[in-house]
Amino acid sequence: MRYYISDLKDYVGQKVELKGWVYNTRSSGKVKFLELRDGTGIVPCIFFLADCGEAAYGLFDQMSQESSVRVVGVVREHPKRKGEFEIGVSEAELLGKAENYPITPKEHGTDFLMDNRHLWIRSKRQHAILRVRAEIIAAIRDFFDGKGFTLTDAPIFTPAACEGTSNLFETQYFDEKAYLSQSGQLYMEATARAFGKVYCFGPTFRAEKSKTRRHLIEFWMVEPEVAFNDMYDNMELAEQFVEYIVQRVLKNRADELKALERDTSKLSPIIAPFPKLHYKEAVEIILKENPNFIVGDDFGAPDETIVSSKFDKPVFVHHYPAAVKAFYMKEDPKDPGYAMGSDLLATEGYGEMIGGGQREESIETLLRKIKEHGLKEADFAWYLDVRRYGSVPSSGFGLGLERTVAWICGLPHIRETIPFPRLYGRSYP
Ligand code: 4AD
Ligand code: MG
Repeated sequence: MRYYISDLKDYVGQKVELKGWVYNTRSSGKVKFLELRDGTGIVPCIFFLADCGEAAYGLFDQMSQESSVRVVGVVREHPKRKGEFEIGVSEAELLGKAENYPITPKEHGTDFLMDNRHLWIRSKRQHAILRVRAEIIAAIRDFFDGKGFTLTDAPIFTPAACEGTSNLFETQYFDEKAYLSQSGQLYMEATARAFGKVYCFGPTFRAEKSKTRRHLIEFWMVEPEVAFNDMYDNMELAEQFVEYIVQRVLKNRADELKALERDTSKLSPIIAPFPKLHYKEAVEIILKENPNFIVGDDFGAPDETIVSSKFDKPVFVHHYPAAVKAFYMKEDPKDPGYAMGSDLLATEGYGEMIGGGQREESIETLLRKIKEHGLKEADFAWYLDVRRYGSVPSSGFGLGLERTVAWICGLPHIRETIPFPRLYGRSYP
């Protein structure tokens, strides 16, 4: 029988064996305290000579931070903290001693912590963030699976660019060149015409040569695509999705958000529908605070913050100028020059978390756009087939997992949102 700290409430008064790592130790007179961590929680283990005997009592002094240990003892209600437990140790064993564990309770610099990321993930704060991440991943899958979407994952080696050529990762594919996927979208457009409602969820890559708090080189994106949806259906799906994720994390990961000192009153109002602004309306808001903004340009991070600061829910900006958007976006026939796409800007200055829209369904227009964007037509032959054989409108979006984690956890930087971040200038450990 394996016992875990998270289940101790079921074993009060019983003797259990726990295995884990030493989180902390302290002594007070004849009583010695070991805080044991097993990944599911932390529990105080009390070493009292009369109960645990000389051998275990003597071992305590060798149980340095992060040593692995086995402890046997009776589960008791914590004398002061209601709903918490402690172990009255009767037997203990040192499994693997940790000498001079590098991460101590004192402050460490970010570079040091990032170099020790493989160990840093053991600390309370990192642990809470990664548990929230796991909950968001489960929420993403449940949301789409529950709505009848089929998971149709996209390849990572791809022959062509989806999101422009400026940040493509080139790699060798035997005798040919290939690129690491920037987005699974083009493939989802094909699978949507096979299954109707689809999504993919996996790592994507952007060779962004800049250090910002929002950009990773390797990040996870979930990309739904729905045949026959227009850009408005698409925003509706996105707002329901974001509401579902936020409300589920609030419900299931309250302890973790508390450990992160997240102000959850900022998250509880995140209920659909969300405000929706035309690019021109958003520009009016921006110009009041940033008169240097050039109308027609894409928004910079500070511009996004200006817009989102006016709302307590995430806000959609739709109909960006077609010139600043990707080749596949449909231009609005009723609003020439503007694309039928939308970005969702998170609250509290977290910036763009979703990008998406309606896809161009005309093969002639696509051929022209591919040329205009300097892309090679031959690479897109299969994509054009998707139009050639029964073309229909479709819409979809991509939500960046790590930006969502950063936003929900209230983190200042994206680097802590993924177990092993790949950043510009860092691919270790
Ligand atoms: O806006 P993007 O580039 O959209 C696409 O890739 C579309 N093809 C998606 C689609 O319609 N299926 O990226 C989508 C989202 C962004 O809103 C952002 O959350 C995230 O992916 N993202 C990044 N996250 C972390 N680091 C980066 N370098 C990111 N680039 C984009
Ligand atoms: Mg975008």
